[in-house]
Amino acid sequence: MISIIVATDDDLLIGKKDSKNGMPWHNKEELQHFKKTTLNRTILMGKTTYLAIGRPLPNRKTIVVTKSGLDDERVEVRNDLIEVIQEYKDKNEDLYISGGASIYKQALPYVDELIISRIPGKHTGETYFPSFEEYDFHLEKETQLETFVLQIYKKG
Ligand SMILES: NC(=O)c1ccc[n+]([C@@H]2O[C@H](COP(=O)([O-])OP(=O)(O)OC[C@H]3O[C@@H](n4cnc5c(N)ncnc54)[C@H](OP(=O)(O)O)[C@@H]3O)[C@@H](O)[C@H]2O)c1
Repeated sequence: MISIIVATDDDLLIGKKDSKNGMPWHNKEELQHFKKTTLNRTILMGKTTYLAIGRPLPNRKTIVVTKSGLDDERVEVRNDLIEVIQEYKDKNEDLYISGGASIYKQALPYVDELIISRIPGKHTGETYFPSFEEYDFHLEKETQLETFVLQIYKKG
């Protein structure tokens, strides 16, 4: 299955350039959820997100997509996002698309599932998750956790 995994606030904000790790908030429970969901799986992210995190996350295979290149042997560097998605679809392997905004936007037509952490409130930042109303997703499950609401959308 190809999944998008993202945390947004009420306005679909996802990123803040001058924060420590690129995120507009610090939410420990949400980081734990991301870790639990992606541990021992393959995550894919754009170069900007990777550089904002600053290192590969442990115990996961990390694919970084960039057209300009990246010299980092700790991750798999690829230059074509859609080609990677197609590859994982063909071999029937799970892939977790982990941002940022430009990668989410391009991946939306191809993914089977959206895993969205809804962080309550409004925050400061400049990067937003793209609107996904035009794609055929329906809300399958919504769970109130201690500090955020977890939503699972499925295609179709
Ligand atoms: N809240 C969340 O859950 C969450 C999750 C992830 C990220 N974020 C935030 O999102 C922000 C970053 O988003 P962003 O849109 O600026 O950057 P991004 O999507 O992380 O990375 C953009 C870069 O990815 C490469 N790229 C884009 N499309 C590609 C393609 N089709 N094939 C190959 N490479 C491609 C390009 O690298 P080159 O220019 O090198 O070619 C491009 O400059 C940060 O603030 C980050 O913290 C938030």
